[in-house]
Amino acid sequence: MATMVGTQKDLADLLNSLLALDYDAIDAYEAAIDRIDDDGDKAQLEEFKGDHERHVCALHPLVVELGEKPVEKADIKRVLTKGKVVLASLVGDRMILLAMKMNEDDTNLAYDRAVQRADLPAHIHEVLVQNRDDERRHLAYILGRLEDYEVGEKESAVTSTPAIEPPPTSQSAPSTR
Ligand SMILES: [Fe+2]
Ligand SMILES: [Fe+2]
Repeated sequence: MATMVGTQKDLADLLNSLLALDYDAIDAYEAAIDRIDDDGDKAQLEEFKGDHERHVCALHPLVVELGEKPVEKADIKRVLTKGKVVLASLVGDRMILLAMKMNEDDTNLAYDRAVQRADLPAHIHEVLVQNRDDERRHLAYILGRLEDYEVGEKESAVTSTPAIEPPPTSQSAPSTR
């Protein structure tokens, strides 16, 4: 199910749910980094995890400023359905990237909704736009890598097609005895 984050009426609730989503993302990235083989992807995922850590640092004081208590960890339901528990069971880089795509679909949707709110103070809007732009970059990279896998698959399907063989003739037919 797509995330509901970004639809909250109360601004502090909204920021707290974005915060939880960023904690979820950090957990998921940790699990993905542990399991992915490709060195280039691993380095990118490390960088993206760092972006989510920055998002947490930026959102935290905004919740405090609004007089609420910031959440301190990931939402356990998400961890079980989309987070590191699911990631830990996946085999193969492509499956890991697919799982991270689902995670980034959620962060993108949540931040896209959040930045559209009319009641955002300018400094909060600015933070949310910066975070949203990071999320877009994350999703774009993962989509590009998944496309690479698809292209690779098509190419290997073409090269593995057997060359056209001459039709069997009576001379070349294997002897039955
Ligand atoms: Fe994030
Ligand atoms: Fe992200």
